[in-house]
Amino acid sequence: MKVSIIGGAGYVGLITGLGVSTMGHQVTATDIDKDKIDLLRNGHPTIFEEGLKPLLDYCNNNKLIEFSTDTDLAIKNSDLIIISVGTPIDKNGNIDLSQVKAVLNDLINNMSPFTLIVIKSTLPITAVNMLKEELGKVFKEGIDFEIASNPEFLREGRAVYDFFNPDRIVLGANTTKSWDFLANFYSPLIERNLSVPDGILIEKKVIDFVFTNLPAAQMIKYGSNAFLANKVSFINEIAQICESVGADIKDVINGMGLDPRIGSNYMQPGPGFGGPCLEKDLEALVELGNFFELESTFMKAILERNERQIDLIRDKVVKELDYPNLTITVLGLAFKAGTDDIRNSASIKLINMLLQDGYSVKSYDPVAKFESENDKYSQLDDMYLALESADSVIIMTEWEEFKSIDLHKLKDLIKSNTIFDMRNILSRFEVEGSGLNYIGLGS
Ligand SMILES: NC(=O)c1ccc[n+]([C@@H]2O[C@H](COP(=O)([O-])OP(=O)(O)OC[C@H]3O[C@@H](n4cnc5c(N)ncnc54)[C@H](O)[C@@H]3O)[C@@H](O)[C@H]2O)c1
Repeated sequence: MKVSIIGGAGYVGLITGLGVSTMGHQVTATDIDKDKIDLLRNGHPTIFEEGLKPLLDYCNNNKLIEFSTDTDLAIKNSDLIIISVGTPIDKNGNIDLSQVKAVLNDLINNMSPFTLIVIKSTLPITAVNMLKEELGKVFKEGIDFEIASNPEFLREGRAVYDFFNPDRIVLGANTTKSWDFLANFYSPLIERNLSVPDGILIEKKVIDFVFTNLPAAQMIKYGSNAFLANKVSFINEIAQICESVGADIKDVINGMGLDPRIGSNYMQPGPGFGGPCLEKDLEALVELGNFFELESTFMKAILERNERQIDLIRDKVVKELDYPNLTITVLGLAFKAGTDDIRNSASIKLINMLLQDGYSVKSYDPVAKFESENDKYSQLDDMYLALESADSVIIMTEWEEFKSIDLHKLKDLIKSNTIFDMRNILSRFEVEGSGLNYIGLGS
């Protein structure tokens, strides 16, 4: 099949484009960002993901994919168009549909019948309806085009693995024609018949399709993200109570998780959820609730609890280090380990708060970058250099490198004895054993 991915240099678009090209389809990945397209054409990944570089090289070298800025041409030549442009939240808290609307315009001007339009971006059903309505003014739905929803569930940091080994593939459409078309499109992935470079893990597993209608497909995505966000806010609240009552959250999670109805996955206290999706998707659910005059009390509570978490972390720091002119090293900028994505990262929020409070901040992250105009901030490219002469250190991202930090070296480098482990990745026993003061979450 001739497939184009619009937004093909973004996180989702790039992984999708490369993955789909290994399924034997003829793929064009288009993006308005010329710099990113040039980098990708020349074999330079625009994001950090494990396995991405060899996959990109393999697809480029074997001419499995074309990177282009010419979306119009790609639309004209495609049987199937996957839309993976961004759907961020604007400054008023509403979903910004400008990228989707620009693509709609491209489709209206260039689409040739019959085209299946697949929405991979996370879009509320009201926006999908708007797309259908606008396209319906120029083309005939069912004859010239159909719209389907195929939400994306990849985890940043595991994105390449997740593309090839998904838990499920959700196909939302209004006709069996679209379902069949998409089932056929995905058959190489289902049959595990893929052309991938060495090192890409293809698990032997049965991958389930979920065939459903458009609103249900979108709600599966929103419901999944809201549930994951709920787990994060929930366990952060339980951890906070643990601190007051003298319980250790690790024991509590262990004891709770043994109940198979609960489990312990995605139940680690931390700086709160960040990244490009969870907060935005909860906001979108609240907005959707407002549209249908429903009160989304639960979604709002999850969001509010998450916002408070970073304040609670700042309070911990200020309580312990309430002196002017201190320097704090923040370890980790990415919103989670395994990615260079700092969108909505709790670490960046904390850095800005600390700078505003008058602290100097040094940071280190193995791959993510953050710049600030504040001259009291600097990023170093070596962890121990970043720790040198700092007063204290706060771990904000759960990178493996931080888990194996040399505690004796750390003790010699920092001026105070205190380490804040806001991911609970170190052992209190070992930290205290090396003469340092340990402050974690939930104990
Ligand atoms: N990042 C994730 O982990 C993730 C996971 C699941 C779903 N999603 C959803 O997928 C969508 C994309 O997210 P992302 O993180 O990949 O965003 P992104 O910002 O990384 O990528 C979007 C890309 O679209 C390009 N673009 C914008 N307007 C365009 C246009 N008119 N024509 C062509 N290209 C255009 C941008 O230049 C950018 O490269 C969002 O709806 C998001 O909610 C993201």
